[in-house]
Amino acid sequence: MSSSRLRLKNKTAIVTGGGTKSALAGTGQAIAILYAREGARVLLMDIDEANALKTQETIRKEGGEASVFVGDVTRHEDCRAMVNAAVSRYGCLNILFNNVGISRPGTAVDVKEEDWDTVLDVNLKSIMLTSRHAIPMMIEGGGGAIVNVSSIDGLRAGWSRNISYAAAKAGVIGMTRNMAIQHGRDNIRVNCIAPGHLNASLTSGLSESHREMRRRANALGTEGTAWDVAWAAVFLASDESRWITGVVLPVDAGTLAAHPLSIMPRDDTGILPDPDIDLHFPP
Ligand SMILES: NC(=O)c1ccc[n+]([C@@H]2O[C@H](COP(=O)([O-])OP(=O)(O)OC[C@H]3O[C@@H](n4cnc5c(N)ncnc54)[C@H](O)[C@@H]3O)[C@@H](O)[C@H]2O)c1
Repeated sequence: MSSSRLRLKNKTAIVTGGGTKSALAGTGQAIAILYAREGARVLLMDIDEANALKTQETIRKEGGEASVFVGDVTRHEDCRAMVNAAVSRYGCLNILFNNVGISRPGTAVDVKEEDWDTVLDVNLKSIMLTSRHAIPMMIEGGGGAIVNVSSIDGLRAGWSRNISYAAAKAGVIGMTRNMAIQHGRDNIRVNCIAPGHLNASLTSGLSESHREMRRRANALGTEGTAWDVAWAAVFLASDESRWITGVVLPVDAGTLAAHPLSIMPRDDTGILPDPDIDLHFPP
């Protein structure tokens, strides 16, 4: 960890949801590990201490610096205390990665009102709460980088019955752009990653056939992992992206580049063998 070429050397980063709830790496976990490998001191914020300790252990074994802060991103006081903890432990705050996100089922017709409120609070309002306290500290230190996690579901509709998730993730994109404009003159860059269909902690319960379908739905025909998101997160947090702000970067193997017909099965002539196949809309 001593190379002078480390991309986040001497920077302090907060990663919310920096633990993982499954055996599979989560995006928060992978991001925290890569940030530490690139020289950052990482505050792992998580509602579940045991989840965060798993990430801390990995980072410390590799010789990196990380510590855990237990808190809930929907609680204003926890977000304030999280930022204060980062500054008192490490002396400054340069990077905030807003990773926490959850999903609950439901269409406009049947989503439970309490689920709607929870998803909007956890995925969207939390970014305002963490940023509210992080931005003044970043300004004191001469600037910083904020990276938010959206989803391809915030840009295009899928057939998942997840209207609250889609609304929150679209909101994350709007917030990212607004914050980039409001705080650009403070030398704070705000960007957003929109992951595609990953095989990662949040989606670790998917069947093999479901995973195969997700693989086939993108241009590369391969499955993404938390590490694919994490490498984009390193770039957007590092000085290499010093002139990039307000962008939404899909990490999706080209899923958003394709129109719906592109993933339908077809023969060598390009003609659909079964025009009745309807892959995209619920019956
Ligand atoms: N997996 C995918 O296919 C996919 C696709 C698009 C976007 N995403 C986004 O990636 C992120 C998933 O992150 P992950 O893989 O690290 O997931 P994860 O489910 O492993 O969660 C990471 C951590 O967040 C913590 N957490 C949950 N609620 C919290 C709260 N209120 N306060 C603080 N911590 C809390 C959990 O304890 C957990 O340790 C989400 O924002 C999700 O929407 C995932």
